[in-house]
Amino acid sequence: MASVESTPQAPFPVAVLVSGTGTNLQALLDSVHSREAEIVAVASSTTDAPALTRAATLGVPTAVFARAAYSDRIARDRALADWLQSRGARLVVLAGYMELLSSAFLERFGGAVINVHPSLLPAFAGLRAIEQALDYGVKVFGVTVHFVDAGIDSGPVILQRAVELPDASTPDDVLAALRPIEHALLPEAVRLFARSALVTDPANRRRVRIAATQSADVAPVASQRAHSEPGHPRGGG
Ligand code: GRF
Repeated sequence: MASVESTPQAPFPVAVLVSGTGTNLQALLDSVHSREAEIVAVASSTTDAPALTRAATLGVPTAVFARAAYSDRIARDRALADWLQSRGARLVVLAGYMELLSSAFLERFGGAVINVHPSLLPAFAGLRAIEQALDYGVKVFGVTVHFVDAGIDSGPVILQRAVELPDASTPDDVLAALRPIEHALLPEAVRLFARSALVTDPANRRRVRIAATQSADVAPVASQRAHSEPGHPRGGG
């Protein structure tokens, strides 16, 4: 009887966009890289982002796409998308990426763009989310990983986790509590995406369900959203 050998599956190719410290990139490098996913490219909007060193240390290709080097954002995003696609990326992860991305960029990746945000969205979208939450006086903080759409931190939620901090009074207190949550949720979202476990609920297309296994009649979120209508630029960060 002939034996059937299973072919080992290649890790899922992922690109990460950064602008700064890169602790979320480090979490991805430490937990999913060369396992369920392969980080094939790290692109930064700034030349001096410590995140670039984290990637280079592990031999991950890096590049800088500074806005000042291009005539406009559309041209910058075209060059960025060209490079990421030349590296074979099938998912783009925004990990502290502080630039707006054009709708043309989002369309090229067919909805396969995710972001980590340090609040329980839809509360406190945009910049300085932790400061916004502290100013508001909330007692429960949290982290959201979501798909990126044309708005600011407005795409469908993939994962969220809350933490009660009734006495927090400084951004550093909150950040210290949120960091480990970010570093757990973002790699988990990448793992789920890589195994096509994120599916849109047909009854509510904002709701992202986590499927144990991918059935033939439920398309993964990214392919369902690949033909969504063009929108306006949105922000990372
Ligand atoms: C994180 O707080 C993330 O939620 C936000 O930007 C920050 C990036 O931090 N989008 P790091 O560069 O990954 O350390």
